[in-house]
Amino acid sequence: MTSARTAPAAVLCGLGAVLPPRAVANEALCAELDTTDQWIRTRTGIRERRIADPSVSTADLAAAAAATALESSGSRDVHAVVLATTTPDHLMPATAPAVAARLGLTDTAAFDVAAVCTGFVYALATAAGLIHAGTARRVLVVGADRMSRLPAADDRTTRPLFADGAGAVVLRSGDTNEPGALGPVVLGSDGTRRDLLVVPHGGHMHMQGPDLFRHAVDRMCSVTRQAVQLAGWRLEDVDRIVPHQANARITAAVGRHLAIGADRLVQHIETVGNTGAASIPLALAQASADGTLLHRHRVCLTAFGAGLTWGATSVIWPDLKPAAHPHHDTAMERP
Ligand code: UT7
Repeated sequence: MTSARTAPAAVLCGLGAVLPPRAVANEALCAELDTTDQWIRTRTGIRERRIADPSVSTADLAAAAAATALESSGSRDVHAVVLATTTPDHLMPATAPAVAARLGLTDTAAFDVAAVCTGFVYALATAAGLIHAGTARRVLVVGADRMSRLPAADDRTTRPLFADGAGAVVLRSGDTNEPGALGPVVLGSDGTRRDLLVVPHGGHMHMQGPDLFRHAVDRMCSVTRQAVQLAGWRLEDVDRIVPHQANARITAAVGRHLAIGADRLVQHIETVGNTGAASIPLALAQASADGTLLHRHRVCLTAFGAGLTWGATSVIWPDLKPAAHPHHDTAMERP
C-alpha cells in the first residue's frame, strides 16, 4: 500500500517593503491641478503619497524590497522570482530577471505577472503553484510599481491617487498546518469592462472612477467571502483584512458590507496612495512592523484592479523576523 502524498504548502517566511522618500502632499498637487486638499481627502482618504525620482526604476524599487524580504526570511536562496508589476522597465524583456540579477541570482527562473492592482495576489497564486508542483522550494514574490508614471500631468482624477512603492514576500515549501501556509487562492477577471481603467499604447491613463468604484466593492466583497469560506473560516473569525489600497471609501464600503469593523481593516492609503501591485505587500509590511498584524492572526488578502481582475487568499500570520538592515544604498526607506 502506498501512502497518499499531499502537495507541499506555500508558507510565507519573509517580508519586506520600501517606499521612495519623497512625500508629495495634496497641497503640492493643488498648485498643478484644479483640485483641493479637502476634495482629495474626503473622496479618496489620501493626504500624501510617495513619488519616486524620475531616475528610479521599477527594478530599483523591486530589488530593494526583495532584499529586505530575503533578509527577513533568513536566506538569500530562492529558485524563482515572480514580479507583479504594471510598470515594467521595458516592453521586453520582463523586469523580473533584472531584479533577480541585482540580488545576485543569475541562474534562477524569473518572470513578470501582469494583473494590475490584483497582480500581487496573482503572483502569490503562481508562486504557490510552483511550490505545489515541486518546481521550486523557495520563491520570491515581489509587487513593485511606479504608478505615478501613468496619469497625464493635468488629470485631476487619476494623479492624486497613484503612487510608487514595492513590497515582497518569500514563500517556502512547507506544511498546510503551519502558520504562514497560504490558504486557497480565488482569482477572477472580466475583460468586458477593461474600458474602466486603461492606459493605451503610448498614452495616459483613462479611468471611469465611479463605475470602477462599484465593481471594486462588489468584487472585493464576493472574492473575500469565497476565500474565507475556502479557508474553512467564517467572516467573524477573520482578525485582519488587508485590501488593495485603491480608495479609503472602497475599503470602508467593503468593511460595511462584510460587517468587518475598521479595527480589522488594514489601511495605509492616507500616507502612501495607490501603489498598484505593491499595495498589499506594503500594507503587510507596515502592519507587521507596527503590531497591527500579530502571530496567529487570521488574515485575508483581497484585491481588485484593472482588467477587470480580482483575487483573494488567506493566511494564519506567521512569526516573522523583522529585517535588520536594508540591503540597498539607494535613497529609499522602509515603510
Ligand atoms: O486600483 C484599483 C482601481 N482604482 C479604483 O478602484 C478607483 C475607483 N474610483 C475612485 O476611487 C473614485 O471614483 C474617484 C476617487 C476616482 C473619484 O471619486 P468620486 O466620488 O467617484 O467622484 P466622481 O468621479 O463622481 O466626481 C465627482 C465630481 C465631478 O464633478 P461634477 O461632475 O460633480 O461637477 C468631478 O469632475 O468631482 C470632480 N472631480 C474633482 N474635483 C476636485 C474629480 N476629480 C477631482 C479632483 N478635485 N481631483
